Amino acid sequence: MIKHLLSADDLDRDTAIGILDIAERMAATAGREIKKLPTLRGRTVVNLFYEDSTRTRISFEAAAKRLSADVITFSAKGSSVSKGESLKDTALTLQAMGADAVAIRHPAAGAPHRLAGWISGSVLNAGDGTHEHPTQALLDAYTMRSRLGHVEGLRVAIVGDVLHSRVARSNLSLLTTLGAEVILVGPPTLLPVGFEKALPPGASISYDLDAVLPKCDVVMMLRVQRERMIDSYFPSEREYSRRYGLDRRRMALLPEHAIVMHPGPMNRGIEISSQVADSARSTVVEQVANGVSVRMAVLYLLLGGNA
Ligand code: NCD
Repeated sequence: MIKHLLSADDLDRDTAIGILDIAERMAATAGREIKKLPTLRGRTVVNLFYEDSTRTRISFEAAAKRLSADVITFSAKGSSVSKGESLKDTALTLQAMGADAVAIRHPAAGAPHRLAGWISGSVLNAGDGTHEHPTQALLDAYTMRSRLGHVEGLRVAIVGDVLHSRVARSNLSLLTTLGAEVILVGPPTLLPVGFEKALPPGASISYDLDAVLPKCDVVMMLRVQRERMIDSYFPSEREYSRRYGLDRRRMALLPEHAIVMHPGPMNRGIEISSQVADSARSTVVEQVANGVSVRMAVLYLLLGGNA
């Protein structure tokens, strides 16, 4: 039993597969006319968002509501945080309100870990700086399994701004735990220095997207994260897109069964063209739908349910 989900490293193979299995059962309820389950009735789930978010925030909210929890959504904008209140004081407020679980997104790596030391409820990392985003990795693994039947043995290319991507870091960890092979692809400036020495077994690095695509089952495109860039990491958007963008010509290099993923929000025309994003191979919309089922499964498990 795990109490918090702070990092994809918290998940061993069996726990991760257990979550995907529960998520599958949760997804079956989404097709019903009445989507709500009574599972978390009387429990309080807080969404604590210090960074902008559309998908993840709405998804956690929908997941908690479908399990009948009381949901409080707190955005840093318009709260006492803008008056300088510290994370610790906010944590004490949440504790006083009796939060059973807190999903937190924060610009600082490690903020969810600190929060877990201050409150008695479960903490779910909904993205901390450039560090981790474990529920995104789970929903991505879920999407691969539902489209391709399994995760083990898949070859997955994660492409683009790996340096700033918590999605890449969490996926690298979870996918290798689940027995997939991961190839990180991007310009050398957008791959962390010394990363090749710290890679888990089953992972590698490439700078050549065209060479990697023909052998992939999954290609996961990452957003170029301008808001986290303090320097210039590539000559121009046009040049980036020419080398590392996925357009129709490049998509044709993929094997026929391969799928194209993106966590959103997309920079259409930079890392992915609209034709690719809206094509039948793209799972972008499915990933969002699967996110709700996966977060329901995680909430259920952390708040005491059995697999
Ligand atoms: C990602 C995030 O916020 O880390 N988006 C998401 O959660 N769906 C990726 C990104 O911002 O590019």
